[in-house]
Amino acid sequence: MATKSEPSILMLSLLIVVIFSSLPSLASRPSTPPSSSSKWAPRFLGRFAKPPKQNQQHQAQYRYETRYFSQRLDHFSFSDLPSFQQRYLISTEHWLGPERLGPIFFYCGNEGDIEWFAANTGFVWEIAPRFGAMVVFPEHRYYGESMPYASANEAYKNATTLAFLTAEQALADFSVLIRELKRNLSAEACPVVLFGGSYGGMLAAWMRLKYPHIAIGALSSSAPILQFEDIVPPETFYDIVSGAFKRESTSCFDTIKESWDVLKSEETVDRTLKKTEDLSEWLESAYNFLAMVNYPYSANFMMPLPGHPIREVCKKIDGSPEGTGTLERIFEGVSVYYNYTGGVDCFQLDDDPHGMDGWNWQACTEMVMPMSSSRDASMFPTYDYNYSSFQEECWKDFRVKPRPRWITVEFGGHDIKTSLKKFGSNIIFSNGLLDPWSGGSVLQNLSETIVALVTEEGAHHIDLRASSSEDPDWLLEQRAIEIKLIESWIHNYYQEKKAISNM
Ligand SMILES: *[C@@H]1O[C@H](CO)[C@@H](O)[C@H](O)[C@H]1NC(C)=O
Ligand SMILES: *[C@@H]1O[C@H](CO)[C@@H](O)[C@H](O)[C@H]1NC(C)=O
Ligand SMILES: *[C@@H]1O[C@H](CO)[C@@H](O)[C@H](O)[C@H]1NC(C)=O
Ligand SMILES: *[C@@H]1O[C@H](CO)[C@@H](O)[C@H](O)[C@H]1NC(C)=O
Ligand SMILES: *[C@@H]1O[C@H](CO)[C@@H](O)[C@H](O)[C@H]1NC(C)=O
Repeated sequence: MATKSEPSILMLSLLIVVIFSSLPSLASRPSTPPSSSSKWAPRFLGRFAKPPKQNQQHQAQYRYETRYFSQRLDHFSFSDLPSFQQRYLISTEHWLGPERLGPIFFYCGNEGDIEWFAANTGFVWEIAPRFGAMVVFPEHRYYGESMPYASANEAYKNATTLAFLTAEQALADFSVLIRELKRNLSAEACPVVLFGGSYGGMLAAWMRLKYPHIAIGALSSSAPILQFEDIVPPETFYDIVSGAFKRESTSCFDTIKESWDVLKSEETVDRTLKKTEDLSEWLESAYNFLAMVNYPYSANFMMPLPGHPIREVCKKIDGSPEGTGTLERIFEGVSVYYNYTGGVDCFQLDDDPHGMDGWNWQACTEMVMPMSSSRDASMFPTYDYNYSSFQEECWKDFRVKPRPRWITVEFGGHDIKTSLKKFGSNIIFSNGLLDPWSGGSVLQNLSETIVALVTEEGAHHIDLRASSSEDPDWLLEQRAIEIKLIESWIHNYYQEKKAISNM
């Protein structure tokens, strides 16, 4: 793989040192103009899903034990494949224990290091004591330390070794783990409540539907389970991102919308097509993540950021002195995202959405989320979803053919209201409308017990974050309803247990 390191003066007077570091697939991708290159669905977490660096102390905040459990590589065949060690974090500190049927709070680990999710899911830790609940954070296979074939290198080798990285396998891992854990603790009768945010929220909702005998309910936060096939329009995501900028300032939206053409005209001067394309992707991913973490208070979820970060970005873009060029404004703006603390010497354009990355594999197999960028409502370059070109990229990167219709066969999604109303129960779909993923989520109450909690000002699973003195009232209220609903699930479970044992 080519590692180029080329300091260069890019874009007007701005010195940006572009470091291409470990971008395996870039070298092999043909140079297509940004306007026609395929647009992958934005990743939930991007490179932030990678294992945290050694110097980051995520675990300090909450007390838990780290354990490992031997899992089958393939739950759905009887072939003789090696097993792997699944990591899980567990705390029984506040647990009522098996005799008193203490609940088990189970976070469905998503695409990254589980310690990072544990550190960023304060809600579960904070409410566990009042429920007398055990807390378990299992890691998703092929992420963090839970690597089949003993190492990430081996696990990510090719389509054969990656074949077991699927949502179905992950749900089976969770279910087997719960059963085994309960057996070891003689806790078979204890109720399990699922939690999850983003892809983890999708897993929580799907697990409640697929394994109703294993878990009594699920809090599924910011989970775009409808972002598949044609269930929601493909423009949804980018329209919401763009709306979040327009809402702060129309001129900010306009400047960003203009900037792509300016960038392209720079490119014809410079003949640095590759760089322009990378730069566009780098900017796009900043805007996407900003919309996801557009929290009302300063937070350090993806990056250290001020409260209302999009407002701050737009202040920079709009507030530059008269005569400032479009690109200079843009870079001032995204510096709020990439360099808020001022400690970044050079920007690394390594937020590459392609390559041998777990989520990209999932996106190229099951998680096919069509994305377009509309002409007017979107501030991004116009793009019509092109499945063939997406498929070609997947073949190039992984030698795999996507199955775009599989998720809806496996978990449903079309006409979800009709199907879940009768056959589902006890799921909370929580969403903030500022979050671009909210457009592919469930925003309507489907039944008495399949409930949508929607907040106007919320962003990506803000309800799962730890409480803070700056929490706005609508967030306190949202969490209070969630707690009440979970209490009612557990209460009903106990009542039914009692009724049955009295029969
Ligand atoms: C993938 O790698 C494994 C292990 O090295 C090898 O046995 C297998 O043949 C490879 N599969 C493909 C499709 O290249
Ligand atoms: C249950 O106990 C067995 C025997 O001690 C152990 O090997 C296994 O890992 C335990 N399972 C879990 C889920 O902790
Ligand atoms: C990051 O911010 C600091 C402080 O404003 C500045 O000195 C530095 O040049 C910035 N880094 C980049 C890459 O622009
Ligand atoms: C879609 O992508 C395919 C393969 O890259 C290409 O041949 C085709 O022209 C594209 N279609 C449109 C409408 O751009
Ligand atoms: C759904 O019902 C809950 C009460 O169970 C209510 O708080 C919530 O506002 C309703 N959601 C919507 C989108 O109407």
